[in-house]
Amino acid sequence: MSTGQRSAARLAIAGRHCQKPPRQNPPAPIDRQEIRLSSALPVPREIRAGSPLRGTVRVPGDKSISHRALMLSALAVGESEISGLLEGEDVLATAAAMRAMGALIERGGDGRWRVRGVGVGGLLQPQTALDMGNSGTSTRLLMGLVASHPIVATFTGDASLSRRPMNRVIEPLSLMGADITASPGGRLPLMLRGLCPAVPIEYRLPVASAQVKSAVLLAGLNTPGITRVIEPVATRDHSERMLAGFGAELTVEIGGDGVRHIAIRGEAELRPQRIDVPGDPSSAAFPIVAALIVPGSDVTVENVGINPTRAGLFDVLRLMGGDVTLLNLRTVGGEPVADIRARHSVLTGIDVPPDVAPSMIDEFPILFVAAAFARGRTVTAGLDELRVKESDRLTTMAEALAAIGATIEERADGLVIDGSGGDPLAGGAQVGSKLDHRIAMSLAVAGLGCRAPVSIDDVAPIATSFPGFFDLPGFFGRDDGLQT
Ligand code: S3P
Repeated sequence: MSTGQRSAARLAIAGRHCQKPPRQNPPAPIDRQEIRLSSALPVPREIRAGSPLRGTVRVPGDKSISHRALMLSALAVGESEISGLLEGEDVLATAAAMRAMGALIERGGDGRWRVRGVGVGGLLQPQTALDMGNSGTSTRLLMGLVASHPIVATFTGDASLSRRPMNRVIEPLSLMGADITASPGGRLPLMLRGLCPAVPIEYRLPVASAQVKSAVLLAGLNTPGITRVIEPVATRDHSERMLAGFGAELTVEIGGDGVRHIAIRGEAELRPQRIDVPGDPSSAAFPIVAALIVPGSDVTVENVGINPTRAGLFDVLRLMGGDVTLLNLRTVGGEPVADIRARHSVLTGIDVPPDVAPSMIDEFPILFVAAAFARGRTVTAGLDELRVKESDRLTTMAEALAAIGATIEERADGLVIDGSGGDPLAGGAQVGSKLDHRIAMSLAVAGLGCRAPVSIDDVAPIATSFPGFFDLPGFFGRDDGLQT
């Protein structure tokens, strides 16, 4: 093929992937069952210690995998089917956004979700702003998708999300050609005008963030040529696994220095898939730590994802002397899965190695709870990223654990905790969840190990990732004075 023929062919392909949406996509109908709660009034809850926790439980589907399953299914040509999807507010925000951009997404009576995709390059112009609620993952990954489509989208979110930094995705997506106008400080609300065809880039991640990596790879899906991400510190790799599973041409090379080089060929054609979403290790962390700190407990959490880029907490708990065992190891939908058994243990404080942080980045609030009940001192460092999660998780946890009687020192990049040696903490205080689901659940677990009740000011945010948390059988019984 001559150079002229090649560029004509490239233009023809780019044309298919860059067609102006023929019409605006009509607003998606409102599904009554999916109305989100993030603007609802705070829901306070009081937690009391109960009896030992025993038995087998399940946790909802993995949040990270659920977002990606919806997004990639919505970009495939044909119908995908997803089982085990997390039906939490964050994932429903992604579903609503993909519907607003043209995908047909329905929940069947059997609990399976069916998604008819528009094809890469086929996203339609949304008619209204995309409300991302509390979800940083929806926002950053969808910004990536929109960046290489010829559409304009406005992203809005709740008070927590509107405080979170978006420059980390604005920077690479602007290099690819997207035109982004953000609120001061690179925050939401923001408007993003995609460029099609976008410009492929090679981007070295300045911060260990799977969301930034994924935003660039997803933008690369509809960008001619090869988009490359260099990842000095490995973060969760669900995007890479799932993009390859949907048929994208994606390679990952790991250098001798451990640096990962990820390349995706753009203008991809994605093939519809059947996806089985495993239970979320970040959600399993709560019943597991509860079992470790409540005397007499023995709990198994079934069907939990144990992808090594996510499972750091379980290793750290074992290093602390926690009786945590992985049973029935298997592979489900390209992801390693196990049942996890945890039995009450008197934990010992440790220096948590900073390099484990990316593989348990969402589990530090619950690790701090475990440390508060351990014997001796636990030291954490290198956790600056925790300050820009749904809340500032270092300050929020330091204040709340101190209020219930733990001994805590807050440092710039971590907490130092002197544990109770397995004794109950005092409790008897009101603590704030700061619009942060993982803080609310961590404090609920801490309350199970306290002498006097712990009142959490607002547990509504738990609906973003773990609907049914308070229904975990035997954990938060009626004898604890809880609202039902
Ligand atoms: C996520 C990545 C993590 C994590 C978040 C989900 C993802 O954020 O904290 O809850 O699904 O990619 P960063 O990649 O920004 O650390």
